[in-house]
Amino acid sequence: MDIGVVSGWGEPSSEIARGVAKMLGASLVEPVFKLFPDGEEYVRVESLGGAGRVIVVQSFVKPASRSFVFALLLADALRESGVGELWLVAPYMGYARQDRVFLPGEPVSIRSVLSSLWGSGYSRLFTVEIHKEYSLEYFPGKSDSLSPFSYMFREAGLSCDGVVLVAPDLGSLGRVERLSREAGCPDYGYVVKERDRVTGEVRLRDASVDPGGKAVVIVDDIVSTGGTVAKTARLLLDRGAERVIVMAAHYLGLEGVEERLRSSGVDMVITGNTLQRVDSPLVRYIDLSPLLASYISRAIHNLEA
Ligand code: R5P
Repeated sequence: MDIGVVSGWGEPSSEIARGVAKMLGASLVEPVFKLFPDGEEYVRVESLGGAGRVIVVQSFVKPASRSFVFALLLADALRESGVGELWLVAPYMGYARQDRVFLPGEPVSIRSVLSSLWGSGYSRLFTVEIHKEYSLEYFPGKSDSLSPFSYMFREAGLSCDGVVLVAPDLGSLGRVERLSREAGCPDYGYVVKERDRVTGEVRLRDASVDPGGKAVVIVDDIVSTGGTVAKTARLLLDRGAERVIVMAAHYLGLEGVEERLRSSGVDMVITGNTLQRVDSPLVRYIDLSPLLASYISRAIHNLEA
């Protein structure tokens, strides 16, 4: 079956779409994205060259609601032009952190978003390190959340010598265990974190590791305000860590975060190219298109075998 790759809105989506199309040997289409004067999104997809399966790459870059609407409109345009099968690659899956009702009156946002994407015609979903993997149950089709950490660890040229991997909360421990197994780094542990649901304030209670004289790699799904990793870095440096590197699948690049991390002693952030890049000597981006392309190519192979 002929495959086409459609680049979604925003630079990370087009960068990843270009990489995936190249590696799959598929044709790449870059749609026209516009806004109407009232703020509504408009999209037009030209020339698909009769592809039977189309892979749309749309990361949930800011504003996430706009990325979401573009993903829906692209699906509609593609179905309208007769495409048989639609797959979605959402390198950063938005709305995933509201994966349950924390306070009365809240929605399960990810349920609403994933069921709408399915309803718009996507039958397969690939994402990178979704906040909680169980959220994918809300997508009725097959879905995968790729773990990028051992790929990033390798691509960044890190080694396990004198390194301890640390989860900044229990929710990230599975990520660290997996990285420890895949990269062959035996030393790992976690920090216990509590977050005030109303103020968002983060408090740390304890650490299960002795970071004395070691380089610490803090592994997390996302750096947003930077509060979680900044506090973790401070705690571990106070307990004798030699240096702290942060490895996060997604980096939001909010204003002031770089300074916050630097002043907490973080000396490098390694992250995927799933969101808008910030130009900073602290942040090193790893292109995740080869990782995504190899997963997608395996999925295609399994279907056709
Ligand atoms: C929390 O459960 C997540 O895994 C991240 O640790 C958190 O979302 C990071 O947010 P922030 O950078 O604002 O502390």
